[in-house]
Amino acid sequence: TLLDVVVDKNIPLDGYGACEGTLACSTCHVILKQEDFDRLPNKPVDEELDMLDLAVDLSDTSRLGCQIT
Ligand code: FES
Repeated sequence: TLLDVVVDKNIPLDGYGACEGTLACSTCHVILKQEDFDRLPNKPVDEELDMLDLAVDLSDTSRLGCQIT
């Protein structure tokens, strides 16, 4: 997942992925360009959509990084 990349590469994003990908936070929220959003192979499941509702600056191309494969 995108969260795995952030962790594996030690990218310093303070607080990113606080729940370690268990869909219990929205700290891994990312806003994608429309073309990138459209290319993702997986669509958000209901649990992701529920958590995205809590994200700051939610947009039509928002996803949770821990759910992007
Ligand atoms: Fe918590 Fe993605 S890391 S929902």
